[in-house]
Amino acid sequence: MRSPKDFFAPLALGAPAPLREIPFRPSRMIHFFDPSNERMRAKVPDIAPTVDVLLGNLEDAVSADSKDAARAGLIEVGKAWERGHTQLWTRVNSLDSPWFLDDVWALCHEIGDKLDVIMVPKVEGPEDIHYVDRLLAQLEARVGIEQPLLVHAILETARGVANVESICLASPRMQGLSLGPADLAADRRMKTTRVGGGHPGYLVRTDPAPEGDGADAARTAFQQDLWHYTLARMVDACGTAGILPYYGPFGDIADPVGCEDQFRNAYLLGCVGAWSLHPSQIAIAKQVFSPEPAEVAWAQRVVTEMGDGTGAVMIDGKMQDDATVKQCRVVLQLARDLSAADPELAAAYGLETA
Ligand code: GLV
Ligand code: MG
Repeated sequence: MRSPKDFFAPLALGAPAPLREIPFRPSRMIHFFDPSNERMRAKVPDIAPTVDVLLGNLEDAVSADSKDAARAGLIEVGKAWERGHTQLWTRVNSLDSPWFLDDVWALCHEIGDKLDVIMVPKVEGPEDIHYVDRLLAQLEARVGIEQPLLVHAILETARGVANVESICLASPRMQGLSLGPADLAADRRMKTTRVGGGHPGYLVRTDPAPEGDGADAARTAFQQDLWHYTLARMVDACGTAGILPYYGPFGDIADPVGCEDQFRNAYLLGCVGAWSLHPSQIAIAKQVFSPEPAEVAWAQRVVTEMGDGTGAVMIDGKMQDDATVKQCRVVLQLARDLSAADPELAAAYGLETA
């Protein structure tokens, strides 16, 4: 048994005190790059200012014989990194891989003061987070890292989804969760062969027409969202723990429309960002995860007309009350948070900073 008070005590002597709240920092796109690739490393100074999060990927998509080079490449990038608006994250290899321990050990020793968040793949339950939590505390204490490293888990196994609430609540280090649709599909034995997105075979069709009454008439079919259930569970679990949910990867780089649709569904459901796997997806995520200026203006109008936020008013034929004010405040808060880091958006929203 553990007292709730202990939750916020460092897990190793000399480690920094855990954060009591996860700071909201814009993270509309988590832009993945392969640090083993010299050409990609060379592009970092140009790409970093255009994204909210730059993530050095050490896990899947980095071949086994490039793992050491990827780790070394990320350390090179981290040493040159200046902390600022853009966050530096990494995705380390999974806990059962031969690389995880070396990844965490080397990154903490070499660039532990530059990394904001460590993304841990294939998290199955709270026990995985407890292990990472204690290990990071020991390394923080050993190396003298002053700002606690945060942990982001990828939800990409059936067991992980079944344990999603306890994963989110496992440690004050938990920053957020991403959907990992590719691994999750494999683990669940889904019959897809893609990275995220919909599937034309997953649909619902209208009833057949009655016998003899144009029975051959075309029946309309609607494609359903394969990820709705998981995303919705993830959003609720994150909300319960005060941490942030993200759509993960959308692998069909040649389909910007499909990508935008998936990202927008996630945004509307409560996610704060998504991964970008290619520079072309940066602009999509930026647009989708920043509220439309017209939406922000509407939210401002509702809040203004509702005065102290209680009672009810009609605006353009739509009923507003305490609950719509709360929704509007969510949009306004996001607009303010994004404005603080983005002068273009600040001008488009024209909000006073409060
Ligand atoms: C991401 O890691 C995924 O498996 O979709
Ligand atoms: Mg994966």
